[in-house]
Amino acid sequence: LRIAIFASGQGSNFQAIADAVQHRKLDCSIELLVCDKPAAPVVERAHQSGVEAFVFQPKQYASRADYEAEILLELQKRSVDLIVLAGYMRIITNTLVEPYYGKMINIHPSLLPAFPGVAAMEQALEYGVKVTGVTVHFVDGGMDTGPIIAQQAVDIRPDETIETLAARIHAVEQELYPAVINQIANQQIKLTGRHVQIITNAN
Ligand code: GRF
Repeated sequence: LRIAIFASGQGSNFQAIADAVQHRKLDCSIELLVCDKPAAPVVERAHQSGVEAFVFQPKQYASRADYEAEILLELQKRSVDLIVLAGYMRIITNTLVEPYYGKMINIHPSLLPAFPGVAAMEQALEYGVKVTGVTVHFVDGGMDTGPIIAQQAVDIRPDETIETLAARIHAVEQELYPAVINQIANQQIKLTGRHVQIITNAN
């Protein structure tokens, strides 16, 4: 499986995936990092891991369609089969969603459909829910709305702060995302309409 990772920030998920590939726990190759923030730490992580990076500045393009068309060319050049969004802080439109529908996944730090959009962990704390978590889903045209592949719950403790919660959420993400990519690489995930079926060896 040839993947591209899109990220805008720290890149802890990028790192978890790159480590899983390096330790042969994940049978895929990271063909490209796509990043819209030249100064983001994830760019240095790609460099350290020997992963090629396409780094761009959105304001240097006339429109979103223009830079997405360029990204599409970079993906096609490398025959990328799966786009992995890992903290990519931009809306993705039809230029990429259409050719990659069912081949583009995102990770979100809440149990969707609760708390979509930015600051999901802050939203959960503010609301006072007792359980939140992590969701991996296919990407459609909406904001965190696509078919759900996997979810894992994380309890919110009485003395929880954003820092303590973020630490546990990130730990869950770094396990769950490589595991889901592995299932996709092994063709264990089947998408029918909105419904995702995980095919295990037992069935
Ligand atoms: C993660 O919490 C992810 O769920 C969200 O953005 C964050 C990215 O973190 N979509 P990192 O850049 O992978 O460290």
